[in-house]
Amino acid sequence: MALRIDFARMMAPRVTGGATEAEFRTLRTRFATVHEAVTADAAAGRYGFLELESQAAEHARVLAFTGPLRGRYADVVVLGIGGSALGAIALRTALGDAFAGANLHVADNVDPAPIAALLKRLDLARTLFCVISKSGTTVETLAQYALVRAAIDRDHRQPMRHLAFVTDPAVGPLREIAVRDRIPVFDVPPNVGGRFSVLTPVGTLPAAFAGFDTSAFLAGAREMRERCAVGELKANPAGVFAMLQWRAHTQAGRGIHVMMSYADALRDVAPWFVQLWAESLGKINAEGQHTGPTPVAARGTTDQHSQLQLYMEGPADKTVAFLVEREHRADLKLSDAALAPVVEHLRSRTLGELLDAEQRATADALASAGRPSLAIELDVCDAHHVGALMMLLMKATIYAGVLYGVNPLDQPGVELGKRLAREALVTPKRTAADSRWIV
Ligand code: PA5
Repeated sequence: MALRIDFARMMAPRVTGGATEAEFRTLRTRFATVHEAVTADAAAGRYGFLELESQAAEHARVLAFTGPLRGRYADVVVLGIGGSALGAIALRTALGDAFAGANLHVADNVDPAPIAALLKRLDLARTLFCVISKSGTTVETLAQYALVRAAIDRDHRQPMRHLAFVTDPAVGPLREIAVRDRIPVFDVPPNVGGRFSVLTPVGTLPAAFAGFDTSAFLAGAREMRERCAVGELKANPAGVFAMLQWRAHTQAGRGIHVMMSYADALRDVAPWFVQLWAESLGKINAEGQHTGPTPVAARGTTDQHSQLQLYMEGPADKTVAFLVEREHRADLKLSDAALAPVVEHLRSRTLGELLDAEQRATADALASAGRPSLAIELDVCDAHHVGALMMLLMKATIYAGVLYGVNPLDQPGVELGKRLAREALVTPKRTAADSRWIV
């Protein structure tokens, strides 16, 4: 595996306002302490996503369940939201080329029109619904479940042949229904929260149904976990990512952290990261201050023609992290005859070369305008590398939690929203006095 971070453009003098060598030495010292604190908490069982060995048995259950069912289902539909959906979406996009199984759909909203359209398209006889909710109480997911369960019952089908649950090992409504109706159910370990759960059956069950190599995915994550088990900043990719992003925010006012993929396969890693970074770090810290960076997803080259102008000349409040795939799994040579002699710079080039050149040019353009960026480069976008990338970003989030002085594992704001949504269902709609319309 080769996954590396080029952070030259986060540094001065390459980028005005970047970290100086002296600052980097200070960051190294600080990181040793941060890493020590995280290692101690990990040893105490706080970070379940690192405990891959203790989850091996559940992964074996996933493989034993999905293996014999290969070919039975044409469509597998994930019902889930937030951390219970974004990992599956990222994996589907990243590994879709290796597709060898069922069509994977992720219904992560309750807008009735697309759900109705999806249900209409599906052949229920050949569909399995993976209902994924750590808590088992999330209202959107329960509502989706109620819909599909009614459809299954209406068709006089056996629920256990069309449903599989992923939820808390002991408590919650989904666990109760699974036990009552003998629906296959997989565990999310109690010490793994939604946005850190892609390495559990939350990610691996849908991925295995889609035919992706979940063993390689977990092996890549394990390898990155080992690389990130050292307190020397220069050797720890998650440490470098966290320290430089945090420094750019807190010491150079660059609190908007753009993740810009330059490989379509990696484009949905960006929204997955956005949730991870936002929900983990956007908090009130111990001093009562509102803190946290603002992550944004972008896609190269498309957003060069949309957002890049703002990144170049708008407020100097951003960093850009590029996601780059070095070896294109497929490349396309351009026809010389079609453009010659009018256009010379595309002569004998491929689309892959153009994409690479545009990424390098964007990084250099940003640097020349004093805008910092880094590049996370994967040799190739396969299950192994994607597992490594996701582990890197999850570990970086934990380091960042220590740096920002917040608990990266809770989400009190989200929980309040969930409670108010439940209450809004039973209270009357807004009155005219609550609103101010222009009509
Ligand atoms: O990361 C998180 O904890 C959240 O985004 C949850 O994943 C999301 O709210 C869904 O929760 P649950 O998995 O309990 O249905």
